[in-house]
Amino acid sequence: MSGNFVKLVEVGPRDGLQNEPYTVPTSLKLDLIDRLGRTGLKVIESTSFVSDRAIPQMADAEDVIAGLKRRAGIRYPALVPNERGYDRARSVGVDEVALFTAASEAFNQHNINCTIEESLRRFAPVVHRARNDGVRVRGYVSTVLGCPYQGQVPIADVVRVAEALFEAGCEEISLGDTIGVGTPRKAAEMVRAVGASIPIAQLAVHFHDTYGQALANIMTCLDLGVRVVDSSVAGLGGCPYARGATGNVATEDVIYMLEGVGMETGIDLLEMARTGDWIAGELGRPRSRAGQAVLKR
Ligand code: HMG
Ligand code: MG
Repeated sequence: MSGNFVKLVEVGPRDGLQNEPYTVPTSLKLDLIDRLGRTGLKVIESTSFVSDRAIPQMADAEDVIAGLKRRAGIRYPALVPNERGYDRARSVGVDEVALFTAASEAFNQHNINCTIEESLRRFAPVVHRARNDGVRVRGYVSTVLGCPYQGQVPIADVVRVAEALFEAGCEEISLGDTIGVGTPRKAAEMVRAVGASIPIAQLAVHFHDTYGQALANIMTCLDLGVRVVDSSVAGLGGCPYARGATGNVATEDVIYMLEGVGMETGIDLLEMARTGDWIAGELGRPRSRAGQAVLKR
């Protein structure tokens, strides 16, 4: 990976849609993933194999994966919370999964109904099977800069959970500011602390943009050497267990900033802006700032 190249992990079809108030038809999800696949993205997180009672919007996970028009060179990972999710994902040929837990006990209880420790116990057999199956595993740590239930989250807790996921065998650790409360110096302090024990090349940052801080936070993390950034087309999203949390940082805005500071993404900004414009229209959601500007709206 060149020092100037930033890998964007598009999470719109999963994080972006999981909180939509009306049921997004499977065909629209597939259309979105297909259009995203034409922009130059290499990783599109496509769905999650979770309880449909917990997240009704992702109840069609099997149909989404089975319906993908896979393009060469693009990976289509999916979230799994446990072995049941892994079985479901594998039954339709998923070859990359993402496990998710949090640095905050309170958030974990609301999100996946168990303690951090218990979540790690559930992940162990999944990672073991994934290794045997040749399936890549990513690990998410949520609430790295604040929790909607417990407020402050000590950096030591973030480090401990990130290390546990890494030691368990996750190849990439995504650090999630689930409710978008972080600011650049705090983000830098947290990433530096995690980066002391996990190679920076294996860290990703995942900022929600609730307070408009995401781009500034990303820039700070790039300065520390982070080269994997999660984002969502048109800034879709929000977490059902984090009230008030808005969407992820918009992919269009991230690409514009990265191009402006001389970094490469391999993604066509205009094509992404068109995709963002289209999906925002379909869902009745606002457009991203850079997307609108690029399209001269
Ligand atoms: P639970 O109720 O504790 O689990 O849920 P359980 O084992 O007692 O099972 C309860 C029911 O769920 C059973 O069904 C199971 O079969 C079923 P019943 O017998 O009652 O009919 N079940 C499943 N169904 C389908 N797929 C499965 C599965 N597992 C059990 N894999 C559980 C625990 C984790 C399943 C539940 O709490 C859950 O699905 N939570 C998902 C929460 C979620 O998806 N949150 C959003 C993603 S995380 C996020 O957005 C943050 C992130 O973006 C980073 C950031 O921003 O910070 C990643
Ligand atoms: Mg998220």
